[in-house]
Amino acid sequence: MKTITFSNGDQIPILGLGTWKSKPGEVYQAVLWAIEAGYRHIDCAAIYNNEKEVGKALQKAFEDGLVKREEMFITSKLWNNAHRREDVKPALKQTLMDLQLDYLDLYLIHWPISFKAGVGFAEIRKDFYTYSDVPLSQTWAAMEEVKKFGYARNIGVSNFNITKLGEILKNCTEKPEMNQVEMHPYLPQEKLVNFCKSNGIHLTAYSPLGSGDRSSQAKKPDEPILLEDKMIRVLAEKHHCSAAQILIAYSIHRDIVVIPKSVNQERIKQNLEATKIQLDEGDLEKLNSISTRHRFIDGSFFTKGQSPYKMEDLWELE
Ligand code: A2P
Repeated sequence: MKTITFSNGDQIPILGLGTWKSKPGEVYQAVLWAIEAGYRHIDCAAIYNNEKEVGKALQKAFEDGLVKREEMFITSKLWNNAHRREDVKPALKQTLMDLQLDYLDLYLIHWPISFKAGVGFAEIRKDFYTYSDVPLSQTWAAMEEVKKFGYARNIGVSNFNITKLGEILKNCTEKPEMNQVEMHPYLPQEKLVNFCKSNGIHLTAYSPLGSGDRSSQAKKPDEPILLEDKMIRVLAEKHHCSAAQILIAYSIHRDIVVIPKSVNQERIKQNLEATKIQLDEGDLEKLNSISTRHRFIDGSFFTKGQSPYKMEDLWELE
């Protein structure tokens, strides 16, 4: 499988298994099916509330000799409530304990948003009690430290726009090597991609299939359905594959790491098979001609009421 190389020589497989929204009771089996099928990259986060179960599956895979630890690439993310310098290492150590690992291959700041201690998703309030004002430079310095200690072999960010990346780049000793953001044909993120590429920052696309399994509360009533897009369907027919496979191949063609989530064995295998699809120039033209623009995960839940954060703190509009 194609890989993307970090400055220390580590290679991240271009396709990984996403675990956001994978429920406890499902994710154990999903991770084992994925490893059996040939996945060597799992994307996790503390706030997904399933890292213990992912850890059990990894342990089982190691014990059964399916793979060795060093053959796997494991990513996790620092939640918003642990941005203070002294909180980063303990948060990472908790993740390592849950995943039953000695080190992560990649650790990301999950959002450029800082919460008070103890605030998870359920505790987000519409007043100032949710938020704190830890500067990103402080959190990044702690990320550099955990890398130095070997708890994370590579470090990066998630949901960072050009402005926020710039804040880190101007103060850092080590630059972030990955930015994980929502990306698909409805949100190609050309400007951000160009900025990252010219600064040596790799990209990972989350919600590459449009995250249709988000809670109905999180969805807007008129939301487009990416997997049902007409142009994507035309291309799927041409390549005798599924719409999901075209979306995965699109990201891979752009050298952007892609982490479709599935807990279904057939779809887990199908998504891996998509790495074999070759898109030609005509296909790319068709994909680039899609004019629908939509951000499925707009982060508006962080901007309600008396939050100090505004939508424009999160994203540049294309
Ligand atoms: P499931 O887990 O039952 O397979 P995203 O990665 O954009 O968040 O999308 C995840 C959603 O897409 C889930 O509902 C997942 O369902 C579904 N999904 C994953 N792979 C495929 C596929 N190959 N075809 C159709 N739907 C898929």
